[in-house]
Amino acid sequence: MVDKALGTGGRKSDKDLKIRLKTAKGRTTSSTKWLQRQLNDPYVARARAEGYRSRAAFKIKEIDEKHKLFKKGQRVVDLGAAPGGWSQVAARAVGSTAENPLVVGIDYLDMDPIAGVVLLKKDFTEEDAPDMLFAAMGGKKADVVISDMAWPTTGHRPTDHLRIVHLIEIAADFAIQVLNPNGSFVAKVFQGGTEHELLHMLKRHFRSTYHVKPPASRKDSAEAYLVAKGFKGEVDAAPRGDDEG
Ligand SMILES: C[S@@+](CC[C@H](N)C(=O)[O-])C[C@H]1O[C@@H](n2cnc3c(N)ncnc32)[C@H](O)[C@@H]1O
Repeated sequence: MVDKALGTGGRKSDKDLKIRLKTAKGRTTSSTKWLQRQLNDPYVARARAEGYRSRAAFKIKEIDEKHKLFKKGQRVVDLGAAPGGWSQVAARAVGSTAENPLVVGIDYLDMDPIAGVVLLKKDFTEEDAPDMLFAAMGGKKADVVISDMAWPTTGHRPTDHLRIVHLIEIAADFAIQVLNPNGSFVAKVFQGGTEHELLHMLKRHFRSTYHVKPPASRKDSAEAYLVAKGFKGEVDAAPRGDDEG
């Protein structure tokens, strides 16, 4: 049941209107809370109004506004693309079209087609995924690799942490292999110790690295994003495992 709670004290502006849900039979308190948060979330409303498939679209938009990731005509790879918000933002920003697609997205989930985006249904951790992505890019290198991937949690924290770190590391390895010099890499990270090593590795390959918590990322979530800019190119960078100390 949806209530529009006006509260007391006369007429309120639209901004003050909050949708409150009564706990329905069969709906758990946490799912009621989630639904209530969705219904009151301005990013959810904006995503609907602006034709984005996810509120997550605003995270990459905000990162792009700050860090100027995308330029017209650039090629982008979107790792963990479903339902497609980031791919939509990237396609609009680089001017990708169905005739000349510049964006490739990968996810193991089904996705509805997006104009100007080549979508692969595939687990990115499978051995042949990088080759398939490269083929989908027409054998051309990318200018930006963005990753919003995260595994579903198992509830066992050490396992979850290791799995997420592994995912980010292979995304970073992939970026290093497919990026054009001066390219950028963005990856979702979670606060947790092993991130230091990843940061260290990225610093060797990119001219600048940043930790970003875009306003659209919920404050109560441990997620943040690593932004690495100015890829030095494979030749210039020290090989992996060469510790600079
Ligand atoms: C937070 S969602 C991405 C939302 C997306 N950025 C958007 O704006 O719509 C994370 C996605 O990563 C995908 N994912 C996680 N691990 C993956 C993997 N190993 N291979 C491919 N996709 C993966 C999940 O299926 C999920 O759709």
